[in-house]
Amino acid sequence: MDFKLTEEHLMIRDAARDFAKNELLPGVIERDEKQLFPTEQVKKMGELGFLGMMVSPEYGGGGMDTVSYVLAMEELSKIDASASVIVSVNNSLVCWGLETFGTEEQKQKYLTKLATGESIGAFCLSEPEAGSDATSQRTTAIDKGDHYVLNGTKNWITNGNSADYYLVIAQTDREKKHKGINAFIVEKGWEGFEVGPKEQKLGIRGSDTHTLNFNDVKVPKENRIGEDGFGFTFAMKTLSGGRIGIAAQALGIASGAYELAREYSKIRKAFGTEICNHQAIAFKLADMYTEIAAARHLVMQAAWDKDMGNNYDMSGAMAKLYASKVAMDTTVEAVQIHGGNGYVKEYHVERLMRDAKITQIYEGTSEIQKIVISRGLLRD
Ligand code: CAA
Ligand code: FAD
Repeated sequence: MDFKLTEEHLMIRDAARDFAKNELLPGVIERDEKQLFPTEQVKKMGELGFLGMMVSPEYGGGGMDTVSYVLAMEELSKIDASASVIVSVNNSLVCWGLETFGTEEQKQKYLTKLATGESIGAFCLSEPEAGSDATSQRTTAIDKGDHYVLNGTKNWITNGNSADYYLVIAQTDREKKHKGINAFIVEKGWEGFEVGPKEQKLGIRGSDTHTLNFNDVKVPKENRIGEDGFGFTFAMKTLSGGRIGIAAQALGIASGAYELAREYSKIRKAFGTEICNHQAIAFKLADMYTEIAAARHLVMQAAWDKDMGNNYDMSGAMAKLYASKVAMDTTVEAVQIHGGNGYVKEYHVERLMRDAKITQIYEGTSEIQKIVISRGLLRD
């Protein structure tokens, strides 16, 4: 295993860092407060290649490796986790799934636009009765010969209103259980497809999370991804990579909070000295830094596994499980180090603390990551 970053890796990391500082930081507090989608910033991220980083240049992507992707995710997430989840969904759930399992026609029609950011994607697995228990799909896709008819409700969908194309998982044959599930590409605006209300959220408030309703939506057969019955495997394989992106997001939230806390502790004085000179504060910084370093190793290990063609189901789940815990713990301590200032918006750490929580919930809760890890251990 060689975690030495190449010149190209460093350039990508620096480009993401500069973008986050210059383009995401101004306005991040207002977008959080008003739940504003970062439309302009997403457009610029598309132009800079952040929305299709790992897609082959043949389809308009950056042709980069997963290590580059996690480096960029960490930098963007230090400042704005709402923007980074848009990047994560588009790259690892939508583009990766389409490039890996889509037909040439699907790639030409959809991936080329998604990889450049001309269009945005969403990934629709969760339902009111099927969150962690993802095989319990209630949305149906009935085979009508040359097309399917889609009916049902998806909830919690990131990019729910802002997406152009939606990868939708649905049950075609209930008898076959998870082997009767399919995945489809659905376009916004198709008859019977309705975007429901926007969720009012604790964190990542700049990303738009919606319920989606499908009422007799006709989906052409050529929009099914993979063979009949491949949909659940498609979702699981896609999520294995997605979890590496969310682990990197959690790592970024933690590092962002740590950096703010360290700087604050060097200027804030109490009892005649900077607070970093009180060992209670210095030790918090030591714990934060150590845990972040450990999380970074797990994230890099998972990204490296994916780049090397190794199985990354377990390493991705371990990275997400641990990095999301570190994000939560670090942000809580960062607020503590800021004292009263930590509790108000302009110091940023309260937002990072609210944003951190979602990394323990989406793309599989921490409990689900433990299921994936323990099953992997026991299988071996
Ligand atoms: N790759 C390929 N196949 C896989 C797989 C993987 N990583 N994981 C499971 N499978 C296959 C299994 O092999 C099995 O197939 P066979 O019967 O043919 O062997 C099938 O899937 C069913 O697997 P299980 O029996 O393990 O199913 P289960 O009901 O016990 O559930 C689970 C497994 C891991 C808990 C799964 O349901 C799960 O991941 N749940 C969490 C759902 C989730 O992560 N949702 C995220 C939504 S997207 C999102 O959140 C985006 C965002 O916020 C930004
Ligand atoms: P439940 O499954 O009801 O879980 C409730 C609690 O029970 C959790 O603590 C869980 O860990 C625990 N639990 C459940 N089963 C077990 C078990 N077997 N063992 C131990 N504990 C268990 N989904 C998408 O498809 N696409 C998206 O773009 C998307 N974006 C999201 C954005 C946001 C802001 C949010 C909040 C969610 C998003 N989700 C998305 C949905 C997300 O993936 C689910 O919320 C998550 O998978 C958990 O499902 P649930 O909410 O139904 O919780």
